[in-house]
Amino acid sequence: MDPDDLNTERIVTVFGGTGFLGRRIVKRLLERGFTVRAASRHPARVGQVFSSTAKLPEAVEADILDASSIGSAIAGSQAIVNAVSLYVEQGAQTFERVHVEAAAELAAASRAGEVDRFVQISGIGSDPQSDSNYIRARGRGEEAVASAFPGAIIVRPAVMTGPDDVFLTTVVRLIRLLPVYPLFGDGGTRLQPVYVEDVADAVSRLIDRRNHKGSSIFEFGGPRIYTYKELLREIARQLDTHIRLMPVPFAAWDALAGVAELLPGAPITRNQVDLMRHDNVAAIGAPGLKELDIAPRDIEEVIRLIERRA
Ligand SMILES: NC(=O)c1ccc[n+]([C@@H]2O[C@H](COP(=O)([O-])OP(=O)(O)OC[C@H]3O[C@@H](n4cnc5c(N)ncnc54)[C@H](OP(=O)(O)O)[C@@H]3O)[C@@H](O)[C@H]2O)c1
Repeated sequence: MDPDDLNTERIVTVFGGTGFLGRRIVKRLLERGFTVRAASRHPARVGQVFSSTAKLPEAVEADILDASSIGSAIAGSQAIVNAVSLYVEQGAQTFERVHVEAAAELAAASRAGEVDRFVQISGIGSDPQSDSNYIRARGRGEEAVASAFPGAIIVRPAVMTGPDDVFLTTVVRLIRLLPVYPLFGDGGTRLQPVYVEDVADAVSRLIDRRNHKGSSIFEFGGPRIYTYKELLREIARQLDTHIRLMPVPFAAWDALAGVAELLPGAPITRNQVDLMRHDNVAAIGAPGLKELDIAPRDIEEVIRLIERRA
């Protein structure tokens, strides 16, 4: 099928369509007039997630770890988005299984199903050679997807923010709570937080684009780069509060995260610690939000939204 036909057929299936990013991609695609399927292991959740939206996606039951369950979700789709996450390994759900094998199986099934466009949500810093299991799986997953679905679009967001995120909401809460704020290492890691709505908008534009050509790797970062320390000070300034920072070695974070992963909701995970060891900013020259005519929004706007919900 010619990619130009995307706007006449208009069925897009979003795996992970109930998630933090995926649900926003679904919403943006619906606004653009696509027929959207939100694939989830718990289809009843789709109704809950979209209960207040004007247009509803179709709920489809699918588990990307079970190849026999993905066929009906893919059938007839012109585009597939893989926005499935796994942040903590549990039993058969390993980073390798979800981010490499299952992502490649989904891409291969999409190709066999004559899907035109495949978008793999990955992350900035993904590296098939990394020592970190998580970062290596993300990098290997990108390679596996690109080989199973030539021309697949790889989307690498920086850390994403939103009123319901895990990053900024936690920082805002802890800045208010803690007399001294612990840094990852010396707090020198550079970050480029990006508003989740901007990323969702960008993904919907990538799908809506006629004749998508050119680079297949996009890196989406926000308007400013901060060191972690600068970011915390900036958030405290916007909250109109004082912050005292304390360096904490990465080895201590590793130990803490190993225990925290056993708690419900895993307040901190080892993959988050791994990601904080390296700068997480869009590569210079990599196509990003600007190329899609999106002016990224500042964290100030997101902090206001978080404050309003508190
Ligand atoms: N959050 C960030 O700051 C950030 C930054 C950079 C990159 N990313 C990447 O962006 C993507 C989306 O992340 P997120 O934070 O939006 O994730 P999330 O909120 O944790 O949502 C994950 C989604 O994956 C689905 N899912 C999990 N396992 C599944 C399976 N076996 N089969 C089918 N669906 C499955 C869940 O659906 P059900 O539970 O309903 O089945 C849920 O909709 C991930 O690749 C993540 O690594 C995130």
